[in-house]
Amino acid sequence: MNSCQVIFFAVVLLCEVLQLSRARDDVNFDVNYNITWGKDHVLSLNQGRQVQLSMDIQSGAGFGSKLSYGSGFFHLRIKLPGKDSAGVVTAYYLTSTTINHDELDFEFLGNREGKPITLQTNVFVNGQGNREQRFRFWFDPTADFHTYKILWNQHHVVFYVDEIPIRIFKNNTNIGVSYPTQPMQIVASLWDGDSWATDGGQTKTNWSHAPFKAHFQGFNVNGCPLDIQNSLNILVQQQCYSSNYWWNDRKFWKLDKIQQKAYQQVRQKYMNYDYCSDRSRHPNIPPECK
Ligand SMILES: *[C@@H]1O[C@H](CO)[C@@H](O)[C@H](O)[C@H]1NC(C)=O
Ligand SMILES: *[C@@H]1O[C@H](CO)[C@@H](O)[C@H](O)[C@H]1NC(C)=O
Ligand SMILES: *[C@@H]1O[C@H](CO)[C@@H](O)[C@H](O)[C@H]1NC(C)=O
Repeated sequence: MNSCQVIFFAVVLLCEVLQLSRARDDVNFDVNYNITWGKDHVLSLNQGRQVQLSMDIQSGAGFGSKLSYGSGFFHLRIKLPGKDSAGVVTAYYLTSTTINHDELDFEFLGNREGKPITLQTNVFVNGQGNREQRFRFWFDPTADFHTYKILWNQHHVVFYVDEIPIRIFKNNTNIGVSYPTQPMQIVASLWDGDSWATDGGQTKTNWSHAPFKAHFQGFNVNGCPLDIQNSLNILVQQQCYSSNYWWNDRKFWKLDKIQQKAYQQVRQKYMNYDYCSDRSRHPNIPPECK
């Protein structure tokens, strides 16, 4: 290990410790979330501090936040299905309920036992996506809970794995790139994606390993709640950028030096697909990639 790597891992360790102390803020699932489908495939554990979704050939399951949000620093702690999870998709995302929707995605694409699980991220604005970036993991995401976070304020959207920023989508409206503005709901689900998820759909779900189980914790929400009825009211959205919300504070406008370094290292080592450099899908470099 060189000294940069030592610092990198020391920071990660420190952040895990902080994470543990923060986990006490957990609230019961029912406070902020509802089961949205597959009710009989959902199990509440530890007085509602933990929820298990399972998937078999009959059904998967999902849950969503009761409210929509106009900004926030969202998080869930997730432990992914273990062993052979090829074809199985665990999803955690923010999405608006509109036709031309905004959406910020974490998708965990299962794999055969011993083969790497993929972390796919995507960003949709006004219904336009095709912005996938994919990563390998630097730990076993099926062995333990890890925190997956999305910061969304007026300045940028940042995806985090634990305390490491892995992706930034900047507010580039000044160069004509659309930026999410619509109130979004928090959603998580476990479903069969074997038509596309693993090796482009060639590796199928092995149902003899069902039920597949994903576990979730961390049901407190740091978000600016909005009334969905007012979803197109720009004035309401502006309130969500108020400095009364801590994630709008100057220190969340851009990464600090240490975060920047961790961001660069993780992308260099673990990102294995980037739409920005896929000239067959995007012959012209998307403006936000320049
Ligand atoms: C969530 O569940 C509660 C009680 O079960 C219900 O009153 C409410 O309408 C549900 N909300 C949504 C958005 O489904
Ligand atoms: C993007 O940033 C501009 C300032 O550069 C700001 O006026 C605008 O409100 C931001 N857009 C969104 C959707 O947050
Ligand atoms: C599915 O899993 C079973 C039990 O482990 C195994 O015997 C079988 O070969 C697997 N099928 C495929 C297609 O991998």
